[in-house]
Amino acid sequence: MNTGILGVGRYLPEKVLTNADLEKMVDTSDEWISTRTGIKERRIASDEETTAHMGAKAALNAIEEAGLTPEEIDMILVATVTPDRSFPSCACDIQEIIGAKKAVCMDISAACSGFMYGMVTAQQFITNGIYKHVLLVGTEKLSSITDWTDRNTCVLFGDGAGAAVLGEVSDEFGILSFELGSDGSGGKHLYAERDKIFMNGREVFKFAVRQMGDSALSVIEKAGLTKEDVNFLVPHQANIRIMEAARIKLDLPVEKMATTVAKYGNTSASSIPLALAEEWENGNIKDGDVLVLVGFGGGLTWGAVALKWGKGR
Ligand code: ACO
Repeated sequence: MNTGILGVGRYLPEKVLTNADLEKMVDTSDEWISTRTGIKERRIASDEETTAHMGAKAALNAIEEAGLTPEEIDMILVATVTPDRSFPSCACDIQEIIGAKKAVCMDISAACSGFMYGMVTAQQFITNGIYKHVLLVGTEKLSSITDWTDRNTCVLFGDGAGAAVLGEVSDEFGILSFELGSDGSGGKHLYAERDKIFMNGREVFKFAVRQMGDSALSVIEKAGLTKEDVNFLVPHQANIRIMEAARIKLDLPVEKMATTVAKYGNTSASSIPLALAEEWENGNIKDGDVLVLVGFGGGLTWGAVALKWGKGR
């Protein structure tokens, strides 16, 4: 048996903040934001929509899609940079909300790469036969750490959650290969302190363009595949220009890349599962497709996974 995805889910707050709204808040323009980032609007959570609340909604969605109940979840991993409090973990909060009584819970801190780190962590427990069903949630309330007076950063981020249940699938499906990496010396380029995000946009941009393409190609090679075998790319939704660089490196047509950045902005650890769940709901991913999921983020961190979609039983 192999480790694969049994179900995916997502949750988005209803409130929409458009580029036109931001024009009234800081010295910016729809034209600047659209051409530099590809973002047109983003979702903003209400006071009631906590990080755990949004994560729980996405989690229940994914558990239902997997044909399971919360009681059947053995482990909950939550990737987030915006937990509602420093402890208990957001994973424990989500456990309580969804009633996953027997689950072991912990958070993963790898910024926007958190979902990639979580997939690989889940794979270890499942492949070793320790746990059967691992719920992995990416959930972010970035609006809570956004400096709404800083035009360099406030136009980029949004709120939302995505989730996946991982478990055993037949040999020919599931995770084929992965790559994870970290470089603490780059921490100075992208960090949050005293609840505010600081970013050296140009440095992060250069790193991301290089790393996304390299990591995507690396997992394809590790899986014994070539670019021609890849059906769909799900990149971290930070900036359309960074995503496009990865897509072009893989020679994929536009319609073979998940693109939600225009509607939701950069939702950090949520962005990959959110995009994955949306593409699956829209019927753009089918059994047997080879997917490459790839992300980068603060740390600096990066990660990619190649997987064959489907359960095969
Ligand atoms: N509106 C108008 N002008 C702006 C805005 C804005 N919202 N923000 C910055 N500018 C100005 C700057 O003041 C600067 O002006 P100057 O040249 O007079 O100094 C200029 O625009 C910046 O230009 P560039 O640096 O050339 O812009 P660039 O093409 O690099 O785009 C961006 C900036 C979008 C931030 C890009 O660098 C980027 O996407 N970087 C990666 C960001 C990223 O992915 N971060 C991950 C965060 S993950 C996390 O934190 C959880």
